[in-house]
Amino acid sequence: MDKIRIIGGNRLNGKVSISGSKNSSLPIMISSILTDDVMHIHNVPKLTDIKTLILILEELGATINEIKAKKDDLCESIAINIANIDNTTAGYENVSKMRASFLVIGPLLAREGYARVSMPGGCAIGTRPVDIHLNGLKALGADIKVEKGFVIAEAKQGLKGNHIRLEKPSVGATQNLIMASTLAKGETKISNTSIEPEVFDLIYCLRKMGAKIEINKKNIHIEGQEKLQGVSHSVMSDRIEAATFAVAACITKGNLTIEGCDSSILDLPLHLLRNIGFQVQDIDNGIHIGDSLADEIKPIELVTEPYPGFPTDLQAQFMALLTQANGVSIINERIFENRFMHVQELVRMGADIHLDGDKAVINGKTGLVGAQVMATDLRASVSLVIAALCAEGETIINRVYHLDRGFENLEKKLSNCGAVIERIR
Ligand code: EPZ
Repeated sequence: MDKIRIIGGNRLNGKVSISGSKNSSLPIMISSILTDDVMHIHNVPKLTDIKTLILILEELGATINEIKAKKDDLCESIAINIANIDNTTAGYENVSKMRASFLVIGPLLAREGYARVSMPGGCAIGTRPVDIHLNGLKALGADIKVEKGFVIAEAKQGLKGNHIRLEKPSVGATQNLIMASTLAKGETKISNTSIEPEVFDLIYCLRKMGAKIEINKKNIHIEGQEKLQGVSHSVMSDRIEAATFAVAACITKGNLTIEGCDSSILDLPLHLLRNIGFQVQDIDNGIHIGDSLADEIKPIELVTEPYPGFPTDLQAQFMALLTQANGVSIINERIFENRFMHVQELVRMGADIHLDGDKAVINGKTGLVGAQVMATDLRASVSLVIAALCAEGETIINRVYHLDRGFENLEKKLSNCGAVIERIR
């Protein structure tokens, strides 16, 4: 298993380009199931989660060509053609690796009237049930049963539009049910939906495919169509990657231009960085972290919430940063019940953090010292990278396959900005 070795202490300086969003690419690639035409999807990051999804789509009958698109060789365009569905089962081997793969169930059911999909796996950040997805599919007329670890969904006469109120604004359930409803008969109204930017990116793509979708705050109205067509769509940039680099620049008091991202969808995280004491500027097509002298890094309190609240996917990174604040910070994790696996590892590096239910209390400032640490999920892993960048001496991060699921060329991007980081194979 690969490891990452980091020697802390260098400031991050220069420029970094942000890749396409993982969490937007995955549902958009899955939307190809809704059409028998070719879909051209651009700005797809090279990540193991994308490779896993390619395998799942191939299992269903897709032909997928990867086409190199950019001169820096970072981002790929892919062409997905699912002219015929050869198989309506998405098996355990790949689905268990990544929860987002469960989203194939809605489009498969809508197109074929039948889907058999393994119960999902993914990061160890909570129990993560799929009841909201399944209740929504039932409301659209599907018969659902769970057998031997598989969800079997059937709608012999096709799906029928209905009014669905989501119990929670689940991102995945919103995406799954929107996709299913685009081919359902009649009209569907989904209320209490997620309004994450990645949901909108999927909707923009589906509209180009011919779907009729209207959005009114947290209500989405879909008029089902007989057929959707193949289109070309460029995936939005990865807001979590962009903010992760911003935090890394702040913790090292660096001077970094983060290019190719939309700062307007990072309003709250960037506002919090300014409150903590850093110089953060919105620039054309990006963010600039100025020479943050920030000797007086202030503690803050933050709560993770659905968009436009503070994203749970940035919680671990902010926790690493707050170990350097002067005073007590509090992080309240409200999305996932078990997303504090990075705490013990940060403590191994010298952080003073204790947990109280869904709250983490971070006593700063503590000097961090390099250590052997273990990555437990994708965002937890990158928080250890951030901590290591400001820690004294050498940090070895084990189980880096989590990082490869979600961060494209992380070592290369960081070392280009002055970090001492290498992969040990
Ligand atoms: C998406 O996961 C993201 N994944 C996650 O990113 C992100 O952390 C999460 O949204 C929240 O923003 C992708 O987009 C691929 P949810 P998703 O359904 O859709 C509960 C990362 O690091 N729930 O919005 O699975 C659930 O347990 C990842 O890139 C139910 O109870 O998240 C959680 O507590 C990890 N029943 C809450 O809702 C359901 O049927 C929100 O989950 C569905 C969800």
